[in-house]
Parts: sequence; structure tokens; C-alpha cells
Amino acid sequence: MHPDSRFQPPGLGASLSRAVADDLSETAIAEVAMSVFGDPEVVPLWFGEGDLVTPQFVREAAAQGLQAGETFYTWQRGIPELRAALGAYTERLYGIKCSTDRISVTTGGMQAILLSCQLLLDPGDNIVIVSPIWPNITSATRLVRGEPRYVALDRRPGGWTLDLQKVFDAVDARTRAIFVNSPGNPTGWAMTSEEQRTLLEFARKRGLWIMADEVYARLIYTRPVAPSFLELAEPDDALLVLNSFSKPWAMTGWRIGWLTHPAGLGEQFAKLVQINTSGVPHFLQRGAIAALEKGDGFIAEMVERCRAGSELVFQRLSAHPRLTIARPEAAFYAFFSVDGVTDTMTFCKRLAKDYKVGLAPGEAFGPGGQGNVRLCFASGAERLSRGLDRIEAALEAL
Ligand SMILES: Cc1ncc(COP(=O)(O)O)c(C=O)c1O
Repeated sequence: MHPDSRFQPPGLGASLSRAVADDLSETAIAEVAMSVFGDPEVVPLWFGEGDLVTPQFVREAAAQGLQAGETFYTWQRGIPELRAALGAYTERLYGIKCSTDRISVTTGGMQAILLSCQLLLDPGDNIVIVSPIWPNITSATRLVRGEPRYVALDRRPGGWTLDLQKVFDAVDARTRAIFVNSPGNPTGWAMTSEEQRTLLEFARKRGLWIMADEVYARLIYTRPVAPSFLELAEPDDALLVLNSFSKPWAMTGWRIGWLTHPAGLGEQFAKLVQINTSGVPHFLQRGAIAALEKGDGFIAEMVERCRAGSELVFQRLSAHPRLTIARPEAAFYAFFSVDGVTDTMTFCKRLAKDYKVGLAPGEAFGPGGQGNVRLCFASGAERLSRGLDRIEAALEAL
């Protein structure tokens, strides 16, 4: 629910809108957050962002663009300089060739997902989705009348694993794509390069698309960057890689992401962008270029901050007898179960209302998520410690 929707006149709404829009549920994370909307006392660890503002040099670059009058309608798929910078960034990161005709700038990773669904799915088609998964992927699939089909990761003592055979078995004649988010939200699971190769070969054989959500590619603790499908694929493979400025450069509010796709799809994406948003504001794209060209130092700081956050959370919570928690390899979430708690929505609402700490309920993330709660550890020690104090107090009482 958007807070303003409370002020709509009664009677309008559901009856006038399409059933598919009515059926989209508010995400369970938003439901918890809205249950205490506006309460400044709550320590917010429920959303996928930390407490750092975007670095100054990025903000300055955007401000300069604004001051220079870059305020007009702009390129649908991104200004040429940003697409060139994204091509160069991809080449630098993965040691591959990536021409700018394979890149389209989008309004955040969210829009990259929605555009991909709009491009690939006819009503009744399905996407096989590796879960637990960020809920908006399900909503985007449903919005275009597609069917989400889940294959849950398996929880092992040290983390999560994917049984690829289950993915293969879930595919049928109406499957258009396989959606993999690696490194994953909420689990922190990261797919290996061998698994990616096996999946890519399967997709090629069966004529399927791979939608690879790699928005957490830079936030990994065991290597400099997570394995990417881009390292393995040919430029014209049926592969859409979805990415975002939000997480590595603390730019969640900017709403800038990008897609890497076969060159032949550029025109299709240009049309879809035009109809949906008509492009990302020109001056904001100047900030994105600065992030790509000068932002590696900030990412290193971000990774260290998250590593410290992860340490703190695990030191405090892994000792607790009621919690089952594993240290994630990547991303910035702890996803843990609480002995005695099955209804995590009610639990998270109680935590928010009575203990003033915001966590996300596991049921938001689809199959495999139930019974867990998610905590984002991208914040500094002060905020995390306050949140942890309150979680521990709640565990004593609830
Ligand atoms: C897995 C995943 N994909 C995509 C996104 C979208 O990010 P944004 O729209 O902020 O770029 C998120 C945000 O939390 C995410 O967790």
C-alpha cells in the first residue's frame, strides 16, 4: 500500500481496475512496514538498503548535469556515454567483449525485470524461478499474466544449494524462461560457474531464456565478483542479465539499472522503455557514469561494511539457542529461522510494533522462505547493535 492510497475515495479502485492488478498483493515486507508506518523509533532492517547516502562524487556528477540543463527528454535506452561506460565496466569486470548495442539502461533493476517479462511472456506462459526470491519478480510475472513456477533451494547446515535436476523437471512446453537471482536475496546463495554452464547448456537445448538477476554481483565475501552468466554466454545467447546501481553504490533512490541482452533486442527494449517510463532522467545518468568510472573504492568500503555487519549479526545471533542461522556467502542479508515461530508475518509485526525493530517475514519470498525472517546487515554497527538488542529482548519474551 502506498500511504496516499488511504485518501482515495471509497468505492473507486478494485471495481474499476483489471483483475490482474487487483490480485497483486502488497508485498508482505511492505505490509509489515506499513503496520507501523511513520514510527521513527523503529530500527529499519527490513528493506534491502543500508544507512549510507550515495557517495558525494556521484551526487556531484548528477548535480553538474542538472546545473548544465540536462533536463529534456532523452534517449530511451540511456545516453550513449552511460551505455559506453556500462560496456567498458562489463569488459573490465569479466574480461569479455560487450558492445553498447547489448546494453539498455532501465529505471532500476525492478524495471529491468518488468521489461523482460513484458518482452518474453504471453499470457499463460511460465517462468521457472529459483526461490526463496525477492517477491517483485513474482508480481512482475503475474502482471503480464504469466505463471511463476518455483524451485526451492535446499537448506543445508552451512548454507543453501540448488538441485538443478529440479529446475529441469519444472520446465514444460509453456516455459519461456528460467529466472535465477545469484547472489541471491534473501539467502546469500551464489551459483557456481559450473552450475551456470550446465543451466546455460540446458536452456540452449530447450530453447529457453535465462533471466539472470545479478544485482548483488559485487557484494560477495569470498571473491572479488560473483560468477556471471556473461562470462560463459555467446553475445547472441538467449540471456538477459539484469543489474542495478542500487546496491553496490548505495543508489537505491535513484532508480537506475541496466539490462545486458542480445544486440538484436535493442529496438524492442527501446519501445518498451518508451511506453513504460520514456527513459531515465538525463542528469541522473551522469551520476551513474561517475559511479562506474570512479566507484570501485566505494564498493570496497561497502563490502567491508557489510562484512563487518555480517560478523556482528552472526556473533550475536548464532549463539542464541532459538535461532538457526548460517553465514551468507554474498548479498547483505541474514535469513534465519526462529524456533517456535511459524507465522513470521505475525512475528515481524509484533517485533515492529512492540520491540521497534523491522525485519522482513520469510513468507514474502515464496517456497523455501516460510519460517524464516530476513535482516539486512548493510547498516553501520550503531544501528545494527540497537536492532540486535531489540531482537534479543523479543526472543526472551515471545
Ligand atoms: C534480487 C533483486 N533484484 C532486483 C532488485 C531491484 O533493485 P532496484 O529496483 O532498486 O534497482 C532488488 C532490490 O531489492 C533485488 O533484491
